[in-house]
Amino acid sequence: MVDSPRDDRWASRFGLIMAMAGNAVGLGNFLRFPGKAAPYGGAFMVPYFLSLLLLGIPLMWIEWTIGRHGGSYGHGSTPGMFHRLWKHPVSKYLGIFGVLLPAMIGIYYIYIESWSLGYAVETITGSYWGRTSHDQMAEVFTGYLGLNKGLVSFAPKSYFFFLVTLGINVLVFARGIEKGIEVVSKFAMPTLFAVGVILAIRVLTLSPVEGRTVSDGLARIWVIDWSMLKNPSMWIDAAGQIFFSLSLGFGMIHTYASYVGKNEDVTLNALATCSTNEFVEVILGGTIAVPAALIFFGPAQTDQIVQGGTFHIAFHSLPVIFQQLPAGRLFGTLWFILLFLAGLTSSMAMFTPLLLFLKDELRIGKWKSVIAICIGVFLLMQPVVLFMNQGVMDELDFWAGTFFLVLFATIEAVVFAWIFGMKRGWKEMHLGADLQVPRIFYYIMQFVTPIFAIALLGWWVYGGMWPKLMMVGVKPENVPYLWLARAIIVAGWLALAWGVWYAWRTHPKFFEEEKAVEPGETLP
Ligand code: PHE
Repeated sequence: MVDSPRDDRWASRFGLIMAMAGNAVGLGNFLRFPGKAAPYGGAFMVPYFLSLLLLGIPLMWIEWTIGRHGGSYGHGSTPGMFHRLWKHPVSKYLGIFGVLLPAMIGIYYIYIESWSLGYAVETITGSYWGRTSHDQMAEVFTGYLGLNKGLVSFAPKSYFFFLVTLGINVLVFARGIEKGIEVVSKFAMPTLFAVGVILAIRVLTLSPVEGRTVSDGLARIWVIDWSMLKNPSMWIDAAGQIFFSLSLGFGMIHTYASYVGKNEDVTLNALATCSTNEFVEVILGGTIAVPAALIFFGPAQTDQIVQGGTFHIAFHSLPVIFQQLPAGRLFGTLWFILLFLAGLTSSMAMFTPLLLFLKDELRIGKWKSVIAICIGVFLLMQPVVLFMNQGVMDELDFWAGTFFLVLFATIEAVVFAWIFGMKRGWKEMHLGADLQVPRIFYYIMQFVTPIFAIALLGWWVYGGMWPKLMMVGVKPENVPYLWLARAIIVAGWLALAWGVWYAWRTHPKFFEEEKAVEPGETLP
């Protein structure tokens, strides 16, 4: 196959939807969502669904449309796509975030995903069976990650599973869209649904523990305490969760959508992506972890658990519960397989925007690009794995997974609605559409989405960002490691900025060509 733009494609609509849903459904649905929602209870659902309606769904349409539009000119990554939306020299540089952010997330996300694979094996073999208290399971977890080893957190077992997981990701990613991502999604996603439903039913049929029933468990996610709505951090957390969970503001949706044909539907497909993700997140993700913890540990301890950290409920509390259930090993293994599949179907494409940028815009051969990315990713993952104790992962997660994604989402909402223009945007979005979007969304996308995004960004810039930036409360000995994490992000940005400058300077013709190409077709 020739190494030219658009030499790949989606083979079927089912595959496309499974892949898009797989991209969105991830660790965010099963780990991050319960962790964010539980502290606020049902009140969280109010800003959560409002953000879904006013930010999530409109941005999903915007990203699909930008992606398909850019793809028709042969661009698989956001620098080129932004250039096609807005003929201003700065637009392509704004697009850099859509290549940088997924890659930065990939380098820690794959490590977390590898824990689920490791824990699936630990659960099948029953290696932690007998460690029945929460504290003992916390010890198992720190031991597994080598967090108790002083400066460098290294444990042979977790390092082994890290290598295996990275290997699986590389295999899928290198095979491309149709033969890699689509094939895996078509099998992994139905399996994930089935496993998720089995686990949700298991939780819904739990017998009461010390008088605490399933409805007490569900109440934690659904019963609204209206006074909570005054809490600004809940609004920020809810909107942030919508972005992260739907993979919005990252550049990933754009890349997948760039392989959608000019006259193939965007509106209905994008809505299907949102609904699938929300079903898995709210119904499955909301039914499994928190209600189970509440039934077994009670409200006070559940509070402590969710406040302890994102990973506690999945890796400490649930294993304690599995040990008390009949056939607990089976359910435990299924839980970690569920996490692993959710993670894999997201992470396997996190380096695809970068690959397409190198291949299409910088015209580096496919295999050279794949090898360069693999080496780079392997090296960059070392500090994440080995300096976990010092907070390298959290620092990357804050900047790439919390702050910059809001920035990028704001940029694209503004560029699409105000610069490309809502009128053109609406028309572009409805080319070949299977669903005529209600007119009210025209105005939502024109005013509410960009302004909501700007307000959110404003909050981060004026309030939320400073303590992080100034490293308030960070132990002095950890400061250099956080600088290392920041240096990785800045160096990545600069390297990509150079790449953009070089690509546009060396192949100006490609960026001016008006010839549109269909997926699967090669450029002359
Ligand atoms: N949406 C994914 C999740 O919920 C995370 C993700 C972020 C995926 C960025 C792709 C890009 O886990």
